[in-house]
Amino acid sequence: MTQTTPSDITRKYTYGTWRAQKGWAPREIVGAEGCFFTDAAGNRFLDFSSQLMCSNLGHGNKAVIDAICEQAKQLPYIVPSFTTEARANLSRALLEVLPSGLEKFFFATSGTEANEAAFRIARQFTGKYKIISRYNSYHGSTAGSIAATGDPRRYPIEPAGKMEGVLFGPDAYCYRCPFDLKYPECGIACADYIEHMIKHESNVAAVIVEPVVGTNGVIVPPDEYMPRLRELTQKHGVLLICDEVMSGWGRTGEWFAVDHWKVRPDILTTAKGITSAYVPLSVAATTREISDYFEEHYFATGHTYEAHPLTLAAGVAGIQEYKRLGLIQRSREQGEYLGQRLKVLKEKHHSVGDVRGLGMFWGIELVRDRHNKAAFNTREEKIQGKSMMIDKVAAETMKQGTYVVGWLNTLIIAPPLIASREEIDQGVSAIDKSLEVSDRET
Ligand SMILES: Cc1ncc(COP(=O)(O)O)c(C=O)c1O
Repeated sequence: MTQTTPSDITRKYTYGTWRAQKGWAPREIVGAEGCFFTDAAGNRFLDFSSQLMCSNLGHGNKAVIDAICEQAKQLPYIVPSFTTEARANLSRALLEVLPSGLEKFFFATSGTEANEAAFRIARQFTGKYKIISRYNSYHGSTAGSIAATGDPRRYPIEPAGKMEGVLFGPDAYCYRCPFDLKYPECGIACADYIEHMIKHESNVAAVIVEPVVGTNGVIVPPDEYMPRLRELTQKHGVLLICDEVMSGWGRTGEWFAVDHWKVRPDILTTAKGITSAYVPLSVAATTREISDYFEEHYFATGHTYEAHPLTLAAGVAGIQEYKRLGLIQRSREQGEYLGQRLKVLKEKHHSVGDVRGLGMFWGIELVRDRHNKAAFNTREEKIQGKSMMIDKVAAETMKQGTYVVGWLNTLIIAPPLIASREEIDQGVSAIDKSLEVSDRET
């Protein structure tokens, strides 16, 4: 692999990635097609995480690109208080794929904005203000969504820079059960504890969860968890917000992760895969009952780029492409194969503590010691900028020609849903070789 350095112009003008980057030379990317992207030195990389778990359709999808170009020619922008054909088309397309009963949509341009809108809808509609989230979660980086984020990206923002009224409940994380219980004898205590919180806190407007937790470890809950959460939130008049920014759009082998458990939340937020990140679009979808409230009450949210026609047109084309290419079914089938291949790595590498996932969404959690599940690194070390084992393994996969995202102690494997078996084999074999790096430190 040729070591690439940025071109002169890139070096001169790329000041800002806004991360601790002293002495770091970013890799310059010049193109992407299918499941691969190419750097300025001509190295090709297999995209085994769909960039930030968003390029579900792969790169260079002609139908989506054409739809964006057509919309740019016809009507690239109009004030959101007008309506457009693109908006009607996307609303109709969403009604076909979202859990039934989610009928009204707030369109914005990022996952964090969709979650901010969800919190405001929940607080205004219920007249209550507390939000329950969980520790292994990421909901975005603006004041409300970072406040509801359990992962360490929240730490440096405290106490200023985040909204009030968020509480954290236990995770449905069987590999590291917060109650040290075992499924199924646990009786899904993690869901019951959320009910305990609702009862004792009072004033709870909503519970927000990623139905399958994304960046914080690809954590799939036990089958009873989501239906139980739905039941108990309904019982107490608390809204259930499902953040499907990452887990939506076929990623888990269904249109949305909640479909696995036939759960309809009160608000579903999504972004990323809706346009496969070709343009930035997000949605907060809610029920008629909730949206009717806002027919007569002022909704205190809006953006210049709300319902931006370019993004809506890409959303319509994206949904058509998922259907045309049969990608939901394909995610289920290819995902089974991917999962089987990854589980073999657990047998082979003693630094692998757990392999878990659904569809084309898998996590490999690394441990220093399998017997006591000791983690390689802590959350604090991440924020302090210490060298993380997961980054060393991810850097090794890059040397093997495969890009994989790592966060804290987990590799997040989420190839484009168009990936072939050969591409899956290529990615798994790069990870297989790279895990020798963590094996050496066990
Ligand atoms: C589950 C989840 N929610 C919200 C967000 C925030 O989305 P955005 O980065 O588009 O604001 C992310 C981003 O990774 C996410 O994974």
